[in-house]
Amino acid sequence: MPLSGQQIVRAPGRINLIGEHTDYNGGLVLPMAIDLETRLEFTSTDDRVVDVTRTDTGERAVIDLGQRATPATGRRGDWTDYVAGTAWALADAGGWARGFVGWLSGNLPLAQGLSSSAALELASAWALSAGEPPLTDRMAVTLACQRAENEFVGFPCGILDQFAVAFGVRGAALLLDCRSLEHRPVALPAGAALLLAESGVTRQLRDSGYEQRRRECEAAAAALAAIDPSVGSLRDARPELLERARDRLGELLSRRARHVVTENERVLAAVRAFEADDLPAAGRVFVASHASLRDDFDASVPAVDRLVEVAAAVPGVHGARLTGGGFGGAVVVLADAGAADLVAGAIRAGYATPSGHEPVVRQVQACDGAGLAAAPAWT
Ligand code: GLA
Repeated sequence: MPLSGQQIVRAPGRINLIGEHTDYNGGLVLPMAIDLETRLEFTSTDDRVVDVTRTDTGERAVIDLGQRATPATGRRGDWTDYVAGTAWALADAGGWARGFVGWLSGNLPLAQGLSSSAALELASAWALSAGEPPLTDRMAVTLACQRAENEFVGFPCGILDQFAVAFGVRGAALLLDCRSLEHRPVALPAGAALLLAESGVTRQLRDSGYEQRRRECEAAAAALAAIDPSVGSLRDARPELLERARDRLGELLSRRARHVVTENERVLAAVRAFEADDLPAAGRVFVASHASLRDDFDASVPAVDRLVEVAAAVPGVHGARLTGGGFGGAVVVLADAGAADLVAGAIRAGYATPSGHEPVVRQVQACDGAGLAAAPAWT
């Protein structure tokens, strides 16, 4: 039985400006929520059944939260796990998980590394909470949604995506220390344009090297801790220690660790550059980050490398890099605001997706995090 009128929750996607594969190493990230979003129109009910229809495919799912109350009984291996998993994690954190009838829509592309999964989790959290802010604070709901993904869906992501979707701030990127969870907005220079170019290589992180990279980072941290017991994660490692530990780490783990250690430094360098309005300096850091992801972390693919090269060579572009987990997905391009249209046109003309089509390239704006469409979140 419907409990209230219809409400709409919107949950944005995100791009990560810099700080890739650092979140699960206790490091630094600099994402922003973007103006591409998942929308969930819903009417709360007084039972524990979610009846949700995807307006893009017409697919309808009826999710009995009572039957799918734990990861052991509830996982189905499809998109409904994000909804059922969020209900499980919210309830476990002391929140509500109430039924609703809903319609999912929006313009956030799937499988392009833009956090459509986290957007679905955050949108579900609001709908399951009947449109009230889920849990007591935003970090608690962020952590619950991450837990849904880690333990219910079964994907060992860090906190980056759920954090960006929950905490987005219009006009700003977000600097997060993934160890202390301290964060602050970093205003983006007015003269900067951020473009998102889709490589056309869709990614399924679960089938990619993501989990393996995570294990490699853990192995590197353990090897470093054997030399210096103060190292709890790669966040604690310094370049000198990596140098000393070269033989113990071996070639592969040395490269993995070097990416994480240097990427944390690049996040701080990017923040300094943005705060000084120095786009060329920020662009150089973007370029170095991509090279590190490609050469040390082996998280890129040739099509994405090509897209980065094409974008970086366009006049008005300061730098370009893979954004998100990698193994396909999208590239973020930092350009002069006045050049955005020309840059987008030049990338479309200069890069063809593996299927031979023009890539999707769009300018994105930093926007607010998930919440009811009619009212700002957590005011
Ligand atoms: C994916 C994961 C994040 C993060 C990035 C890489 O998006 O979901 O937690 O690890 O990859 O930076």
